[in-house]
Amino acid sequence: MKLLGKTAIVTGGARGIGEAIVREFVAEGAHVVIADLLESGEDLAAELSTEDIKVLYRKTDVSSTDHVKDLVHFALDSLGSIDILVNNAAVNIPGSVVELDEESWDKTMRINVKSQFLMGKYVIPEMQRQGGGVVVNMASANSFVAEPRLSAYVASKGAIHMLTKAMALDYARDHIRVNCICPGWVDTTFNDAHAELYGGREKVLEGLGDVQIIGRPIQPREIARTAVFLASDDSSAFTGGALLADGGITAGI
Ligand SMILES: NC(=O)c1ccc[n+]([C@@H]2O[C@H](COP(=O)([O-])OP(=O)(O)OC[C@H]3O[C@@H](n4cnc5c(N)ncnc54)[C@H](O)[C@@H]3O)[C@@H](O)[C@H]2O)c1
Repeated sequence: MKLLGKTAIVTGGARGIGEAIVREFVAEGAHVVIADLLESGEDLAAELSTEDIKVLYRKTDVSSTDHVKDLVHFALDSLGSIDILVNNAAVNIPGSVVELDEESWDKTMRINVKSQFLMGKYVIPEMQRQGGGVVVNMASANSFVAEPRLSAYVASKGAIHMLTKAMALDYARDHIRVNCICPGWVDTTFNDAHAELYGGREKVLEGLGDVQIIGRPIQPREIARTAVFLASDDSSAFTGGALLADGGITAGI
């Protein structure tokens, strides 16, 4: 087991890629706090908890300072430490800059980017006290290449890429490694609103192979295995990195 006895927070862990990460972390022996607005995280925690592995849910809005502070206290009270932080929660509100309203821009930046700042602000001091830790930020192929009518989202993912490097520089001496994962089109409901602008999910899937050259959607578990790699000692030489798990989207034009 690659994460035996480790303690982790996974934001946005109630469904989709986050849920897959929670499942793989538990399979690798980690204790996990699922931080999500969706209360189905409670059922997931109950399903995965065993005598040996603690899996807990804390209802959290990761864009709220008070919620993030509460989450960190809860994780420390229940698990005793935070070895791994996965900043995965995000929203995807489509639109060009003219189409988007100001609130949608602000909401995207609050949930996708400010949340990672807040989580770092309150978790990293604990990791420093513990003598080290690992942060995995969820970025995107959109950290490298943009898509039409997705302006706020792609800007937020570009910001996460650089925030990852900044955090890696600031805390390397504290033995804290910070990397991001950059997935391509993953098979969750996350892209549905954007796909509606182009004829719907099925239509977009028909043409997916033109850009995602593996010719199929990526499964959440494939991203979760990348998260296990970055959270474990297997990636001990990695920090400030962006691991492309994008099915080849950024390989060429
Ligand atoms: N699905 C893809 O194709 C794809 C591609 C690249 C990157 N990503 C990234 O992967 C991550 C997960 O995406 P997904 O596809 O699993 O989407 P998803 O919508 O299935 O999961 C996102 C989770 O985040 C939670 N969340 C949203 N706002 C929150 C908040 N304010 N506080 C706490 N939790 C909140 C949601 O409740 C949900 O459980 C995101 O960071 C996304 O940008 C996804």
